[in-house]
Amino acid sequence: MNPFKNLSILCFYFLVTLFIALAHAARFDITNNCSFTIWAGALPGGGREINKGGTWSLEVAPTKSGRIWARTNCSFNGSGIGTCQTGDCGGLLQCEVGGSPPVTAAEYNINQIQNGTDIFDISVVDGFNVPMAFSPTTRECTGTDCTGDLIGLCPKELKVPGGCKSPCAAFNTPEYCCTGSVGERCKATNYSIIFKGACPGAFSYSYDEKLNTYTCPSGTNYRVVFCPGP
Ligand SMILES: *[C@@H]1O[C@H](CO)[C@@H](O)[C@H](O)[C@H]1NC(C)=O
Ligand SMILES: *[C@@H]1O[C@H](CO)[C@@H](O)[C@H](O)[C@H]1NC(C)=O
Ligand SMILES: *[C@@H]1O[C@H](CO)[C@@H](O)[C@H](O)[C@H]1NC(C)=O
Ligand SMILES: *[C@@H]1O[C@H](CO)[C@@H](O)[C@H](O)[C@H]1NC(C)=O
Ligand SMILES: *[C@@H]1O[C@H](CO)[C@@H](O)[C@H](O)[C@H]1NC(C)=O
Repeated sequence: MNPFKNLSILCFYFLVTLFIALAHAARFDITNNCSFTIWAGALPGGGREINKGGTWSLEVAPTKSGRIWARTNCSFNGSGIGTCQTGDCGGLLQCEVGGSPPVTAAEYNINQIQNGTDIFDISVVDGFNVPMAFSPTTRECTGTDCTGDLIGLCPKELKVPGGCKSPCAAFNTPEYCCTGSVGERCKATNYSIIFKGACPGAFSYSYDEKLNTYTCPSGTNYRVVFCPGP
């Protein structure tokens, strides 16, 4: 009897499983093109410090929705506990909850809402901290970005260190938070128009009627860039 036979069968099944898993996963290459360090936050994925020019490659299982955002001006101790000026997720380097607003967010659904299709967008509904681009790398489908200077254009009543708050966070009214009576879709406001003007390719409020979701066939890989340049 060959003692290695069972082992080789196990290895074979392991490799087949690995291949199937990788074949259906989406890879996100998250690149920091800013002139400063970014601590990316990702759900799923956790988080990672990305030096300027660096890239974090994140594999995401199929049938997942998620989001990726930037955290700025962080400091963490050796246990990964600390704080960030923007995008902080409960003080952990490895995020388990979303980043606290204001954050620019890349949002996606991999093969979930619609079978065979990935749906994604960039949102400034929860405010803005860092410009971003979100684009496919392996298919001929269209990506999106938010490259306007929303820190410079931010009205003073929305300004916070390192970011621009959403009008909902600043004023908490049904008009700005889209929390009016059921079925009543809220409209663009004088503030959402500023966000839209700077980032036409992003969601600027919850019921933004401009087409801001993008689709690619499932199986596509993506690049997310912080500070993609104009
Ligand atoms: C990090 O900070 C936390 C909370 O202050 C503390 O409990 C932990 O021991 C610290 N870890 C290190 C390695 O300093
Ligand atoms: C999605 O489509 C694939 C291929 O057409 C099919 O095998 C699978 O059962 C579908 N899944 C769902 C949840 O509809
Ligand atoms: C980090 O904080 C310092 C001091 O508050 C500020 O000058 C700098 O612009 C911040 N950096 C980023 C990337 O927000
Ligand atoms: C937006 O409209 C509100 C209510 O009319 C007003 O108080 C506020 O100053 C306006 N803000 C801007 C940036 O136009
Ligand atoms: C990084 O920023 C520079 C300068 O703004 C720009 O030219 C370049 O295209 C950017 N790179 C990426 C990957 O977006």
